[in-house]
Amino acid sequence: MGVKRLVCLASGRGSNFAAIADAVREGAIAQARIAGLVSNNPDAPALGLAKERGIPTRVVASRDFRSAGKLDRDRYEAELEKAVAFFAPDFVLLAGYMLFLGPRLLKAYPNRIVNIHPSLLPSFRGLHAQAQALDAGVRWAGCTVHFVNEELDGGPILAQSVVEVLDDDTEETLSARLLPIEHATYVKAVKRICEEPFEIRGNRVLWKTPR
Ligand code: GRF
Repeated sequence: MGVKRLVCLASGRGSNFAAIADAVREGAIAQARIAGLVSNNPDAPALGLAKERGIPTRVVASRDFRSAGKLDRDRYEAELEKAVAFFAPDFVLLAGYMLFLGPRLLKAYPNRIVNIHPSLLPSFRGLHAQAQALDAGVRWAGCTVHFVNEELDGGPILAQSVVEVLDDDTEETLSARLLPIEHATYVKAVKRICEEPFEIRGNRVLWKTPR
């Protein structure tokens, strides 16, 4: 299938981005290379993690496209699309990208944009997913890697992992226990889309080599 070019989009800490970049560098995802990191936040620690790893970066500061707090999505996403296209990605990986992705990029990369969300979707979409899980009293929380569609945290699911909720969990402790599981789940899902053919039927991802 050839080597896939991956572009990551991150707004903040960047631990998922770093986990994927390290897996690529160590050969755990053999059929991929990280072409670049794009951030909407000039202060994102993810940018430093990219530089440490010699990965090229581009910033499109979303705050420059806001007036009276409102994002001019058309103008912002036109610039974002250019920054992403510069790296000619096969897949675009959202890794803590904290803005809703509008139709422009979805159209440019249909079923080629992937996200990780810290809940077992379709439960607990949106922000503070771990707190939502605690409030709902579920005994198992988890994370989901999925293709991105026009719905918030919607789209065909690639991989999920679970973590048990403990009686004394807080949003912080649950998030901290989940994070390394997120990293492993994202790496596994990215490896699979880079290395195995698949078909998307409705909201299901069907692998040509089922296991
Ligand atoms: C992760 O919990 C991810 O699931 C969510 O945002 C967080 C980003 O963390 N989408 P990091 O920037 O990858 O460290």
